[in-house]
Amino acid sequence: MCGIVGYAGRRNAQPILLDCLKRLEYRGYDSAGLAIVGDGLEVFKSKGEIAVLEASMPAMKGTVGIAHTRWATQGKPTTENAHPFSDCTGKLAIVHNGIISNFMDVRESLVNDGHKFTSETDTEVFAHLVEAEFKGDLMDAVFNALKRVDGTYAFAVVSEGSGDIVATRRESPLVVGLGDGENFIASDLTALLKYTNRMVYIHDGEVVRVSKDSVTIKNEKGELVTREPQKITWNLEDAEKGGYPHFMLKEIFEQPEAIHDSLLGRVESVDVEPFFAGNIFSSVKIVACGTSYYAGLVGKYIIEELAKIPVTVQISSEYRYSSAPRENPLVVLITQSGETADTLGAAREAKKRGNKTIGIANVVGSAITREVDHVIYTRAGPEIGVAATKTFVTQLVALYLLAMELGIQNKSLTAQARRSMIGSLRNLPRAVQDVLNQAEVIEALASKYAKARDMFFIGRSINYPIALEGALKTKEIAYIHGEGFPAGELKHGPLALLSKDSPVVAIAVKDRTYEKMLGNISEVSARGSPVIAIGYEGDTELARYVDDVIWVREIPPVFSPVPVIVALQLWAYYLAKARGCPIDKPKNIAKTVTVE
Ligand code: F6R
Repeated sequence: MCGIVGYAGRRNAQPILLDCLKRLEYRGYDSAGLAIVGDGLEVFKSKGEIAVLEASMPAMKGTVGIAHTRWATQGKPTTENAHPFSDCTGKLAIVHNGIISNFMDVRESLVNDGHKFTSETDTEVFAHLVEAEFKGDLMDAVFNALKRVDGTYAFAVVSEGSGDIVATRRESPLVVGLGDGENFIASDLTALLKYTNRMVYIHDGEVVRVSKDSVTIKNEKGELVTREPQKITWNLEDAEKGGYPHFMLKEIFEQPEAIHDSLLGRVESVDVEPFFAGNIFSSVKIVACGTSYYAGLVGKYIIEELAKIPVTVQISSEYRYSSAPRENPLVVLITQSGETADTLGAAREAKKRGNKTIGIANVVGSAITREVDHVIYTRAGPEIGVAATKTFVTQLVALYLLAMELGIQNKSLTAQARRSMIGSLRNLPRAVQDVLNQAEVIEALASKYAKARDMFFIGRSINYPIALEGALKTKEIAYIHGEGFPAGELKHGPLALLSKDSPVVAIAVKDRTYEKMLGNISEVSARGSPVIAIGYEGDTELARYVDDVIWVREIPPVFSPVPVIVALQLWAYYLAKARGCPIDKPKNIAKTVTVE
């Protein structure tokens, strides 16, 4: 996720672009830059937040320009990898939000044709493609360059001596803002609200030419498109969070896109093959903290099911001071921030033990990426809310992909089984969207139980760690004492805690433990506790056992943790809202824990 903006008008473009860019900083903040068309074409970019760019940049003169704030997905967050990118002539500049999945092949062919690259990014290929296709008309060049790229994108291009911005999109957002004698483009209309509230949404595959006095849209076939602008009624304050009251809710709703991005170009491989290089791992150890640890616990079930190798999971602060057993596992370190001190220490310890290490991280170039042998990025985009949501779900996606690789490598998974898993992975965004569509129902349910002091979460098998994660979200956001248990363990002690005042959330999807789960739900009901179940749509039997149900779409059970946790994130969010808690910044907790 990155943010792009563009301005074509009569005023000096630089301060306007910077101002708009700041409102997109939630989309990325590891580097930023801008390109201004004045007497020539000037590009300035730098590593770090927009404030760093602003403090270091020279005054640039010109009334047309584009700008970018980056969240690295391909190539480290450095000045060289910051946008905009120029072609070989330096006469055009582009910015991009998205991922070009075939960039390696395109880059190779462009290098063979003599193009010179200055960065490690996927984006730069597009600058050279437009250069190669340019025959006098920038819009035509963009149309032709698009024929050679796969992936998701919103691109904006400017060129020396021209008053136009040419922009296009596929699965990444792009809006045009209409002003008087000036027009804008942006990833998100919130960036433009200070200047205009008249917006035209660009659709997938369309290319738009924006100048100070005109906006021309063409569809994929090159036909002219007429579209009425929409009048937006949001104020600037709404805009900061894209219209959501909290970053947490916004990030929960971004999950279909985050899953989609995390799968892009990867379903056949997460590039671990060269890293495996003939090593067959007979065991895996996953090490992480907090929510990432719970992702690791889910990963244990996934890897054991798909790759049939034993997995142990340990909390980083415990692992790093434990004694080394004789085994030589593949060690997988999961950390969204990539900066958690205990997980960094654990990575060093794993190296000391001579183990091969893989990091699963969301922040490109973060410290963990320097400590491990191989990194799988989660591509969730920046997560601002303290409670991890979309990063957890994309960690699960990374674990499915890794488990498939391990399964193929040790021949536990057939190519046919893998194909069917890929189909299920591709369906996950829809299963998540179904849950999001029920937000109002979940809100009403959460309000009913929001006065509880204690709340228990039970699950079995792969949904046992999801019960733990649901409990953690409820604790940290809603300040309710939440505890998760394997449902079969209740009778060994926790049943003593149950009463009519302690609601129990039971995850009861139809897997091999379903009948046992119904038995556990009966044990709970017999103690007078209200039960809220999460089950598969259409399960009338489950509905008879419980007080309330949240439905998720029926999918193969190994993938059920994804929609189920989204339901529990909304549950925790609405409990917190009903209790008036400060959702994005819960007390006593920091987003990134850099102390031991
Ligand atoms: C809970 C949460 C924390 C983090 C933990 C590890 O919502 O966000 O439990 O999961 O601090 O952080 P990372 O993944 O950055 O290592």
